[in-house]
Amino acid sequence: MTQLFLYCRPGFETEVALECQQHCADAGVSTTSYPGYVICQSEMLIDGMQQDFEQFIFARQWFEVLAHLTDLNTKDRVSAIVGACDALKVRVDEVFIETPDTDLAKVLSPLCRGINKPLLKALQAAGKLQANSPWRLHLCFTATNEVYIGVADRRNSSPWPQGIPRLKFPQDAPSRSTLKLEEAIVSLIDPKSHLKVFDPGRRAIDLGAAPGGWTYQLVKRGLLVIAVDNGKMDPVLMATEMVQHVRADGFTYKPQRPVDWMVCDIIGQPIRIAELVARWFANGWCQHCIFNLKLPMKQRFAEVQKCFALIDKQLQAKKTQTRRIAKQLYHDRDEITVYIHSE
Ligand SMILES: C[S@@+](CC[C@H](N)C(=O)[O-])C[C@H]1O[C@@H](n2cnc3c(N)ncnc32)[C@H](O)[C@@H]1O
Repeated sequence: MTQLFLYCRPGFETEVALECQQHCADAGVSTTSYPGYVICQSEMLIDGMQQDFEQFIFARQWFEVLAHLTDLNTKDRVSAIVGACDALKVRVDEVFIETPDTDLAKVLSPLCRGINKPLLKALQAAGKLQANSPWRLHLCFTATNEVYIGVADRRNSSPWPQGIPRLKFPQDAPSRSTLKLEEAIVSLIDPKSHLKVFDPGRRAIDLGAAPGGWTYQLVKRGLLVIAVDNGKMDPVLMATEMVQHVRADGFTYKPQRPVDWMVCDIIGQPIRIAELVARWFANGWCQHCIFNLKLPMKQRFAEVQKCFALIDKQLQAKKTQTRRIAKQLYHDRDEITVYIHSE
């Protein structure tokens, strides 16, 4: 029996379970949900994580479960954990010691910090560590005496513990939403192509820009931005002279000429946003786009599928080739963030 452990934002376990059904259906999966994580079981998924992690929207991080220890001696957890690691068929380059992203995190984080050094020492002594190995060991504590132990392919998982990049709020940014676009950029765009896609001097349009948190991220990367919003833009950002503020309706706004980037943070019905994005790509108005889809209270997974089906249909009709990656980011609440780019 193979088990996958998948982290998510608490409250979105159903969506992760539906994703497992969708992506691993051939393997006849069953899922069990707990606050902040889902266990996906299968008898046929012999090689565990054969799916592409990029295809998962609601799962923030995953690993293949090696052992689930439920009765740890709280005076010596390391021995039992290293003992369970005997079953490891690979050596690992790094170890993530985690908890689900719930209130448990606060309670268990001193334990996670405290065990780090002695565990690494014991794993080293047991010959389980190897620099530059593609494998990573995961430990997820769900109680002081309970831990899931597993392994993930670093090339097919999130590079951050719990799948959450630790970002610092830039004090001069006009709004906290700035972190949302920053997280989208670091999570959804291959770091190797950052220099290319954010080549200074490229042009961008920010729909629903005010007060300018997203525009701030684009300006920081040297882009020239048209900020479309009837609301007021941050004066400090405007003083950079890299932003032109246009008071207009983002749903009907048409660029005078194609731009490299369009970003959209308008709060609107997801299907309307999907139509807007499809129109921009179908008309060749942008090459890259990051946008949010605010999800309804119910049928969230179905709503996402509906929006993507609409975009795919419109782009196929125009024979426009694009690639899409979508995630529910740490800074997303009841929404997901999507990156689409032309091929
Ligand atoms: C969530 S806020 C955007 C925050 C912004 N991304 C930031 O980081 O500061 C949504 C914005 O969309 C704007 N908005 C709502 N409907 C719009 C429309 N039809 N056209 C343009 N902007 C719109 C609102 O005025 C609001 O400023």
